[in-house]
Amino acid sequence: MTDERPQAPHDDVPALLELRDVEASYGPYRALFGVSFSVPERTAVALVGSNGAGKSTVARVVSGLVRAKAGSVRFAGHDVTRWPAWRIARAGLAHAPEGRSVFASLTVEENLVLAARALGTRRTSDALDRAFGTFSQLAAHRHQLAGTLSGGEQRMLSLAKVLVAPQRLLVVDELSFGLAPAIVDEVFDMLRMIRNTGTSLLVIEQHVDRVLSISDRAVVLVRGRVAAEGAVADVGPAIERLLPAHPQWSA
Ligand SMILES: Nc1ncnc2c1ncn2[C@@H]1O[C@H](COP(=O)(O)OP(=O)(O)OP(=O)(O)O)[C@@H](O)[C@H]1O
Ligand SMILES: [Mg+2]
Repeated sequence: MTDERPQAPHDDVPALLELRDVEASYGPYRALFGVSFSVPERTAVALVGSNGAGKSTVARVVSGLVRAKAGSVRFAGHDVTRWPAWRIARAGLAHAPEGRSVFASLTVEENLVLAARALGTRRTSDALDRAFGTFSQLAAHRHQLAGTLSGGEQRMLSLAKVLVAPQRLLVVDELSFGLAPAIVDEVFDMLRMIRNTGTSLLVIEQHVDRVLSISDRAVVLVRGRVAAEGAVADVGPAIERLLPAHPQWSA
């Protein structure tokens, strides 16, 4: 479905995350205008749009870092619109923000232990096993200071930090930004793997063709509004039309 209206949740798969008419601003600057879309259970949704379209703002609103001025956000059966970020995180919504969100002067292991405690995990050893099981490359660097990891490894650590506890939804923002192509491949392999464990994904990504290859559905944001939404197979032409100058688009 590629018409210009936000669509209802698809088929009869229940929505894990649902935004309804969300408005958001930074001071006087309005960034989101009535954004509505949903992420069904066990589904990967790509969130695409040009620079400044409001993708990161959507990620911040759903994870509670930016408060919606109007509209609502429902997650896992709760109205989380006014919940603080820590409470949304503990309900199973993980947000890997733009950039390298690691503590440079702490070791890899210390970063993971802190993240696990913040998510309310009692048994940090289980959390570490889980993280190193998924990100085996990090295990070799567990006692290394995070600030001395390569860019790709730091991005992996950002992901591992939000996955130390089981998650229902992972929101990732430009995880592959600035990484070498081989590392980008690894990042996408990891996302595919996480998705195969049953965690839903909301993936913001400049590499439009690649993110579509791991997604079931796509939402296109244009200047703070949903311009198209639907199954990837249906929404592709709309993306080409709405983001024609996109450097990464290779339909
Ligand atoms: N902290 C902030 N203060 C003021 N304006 C902001 C702030 N963060 C974002 N904006 C503005 O809000 C709009 C949406 O920004 P947002 O970061 O959500 O876009 P984006 O789609 O993630 O862009 P990009 O692809 O460049 O990451 C932009 O016009 C941006 O300049
Ligand atoms: Mg952004």
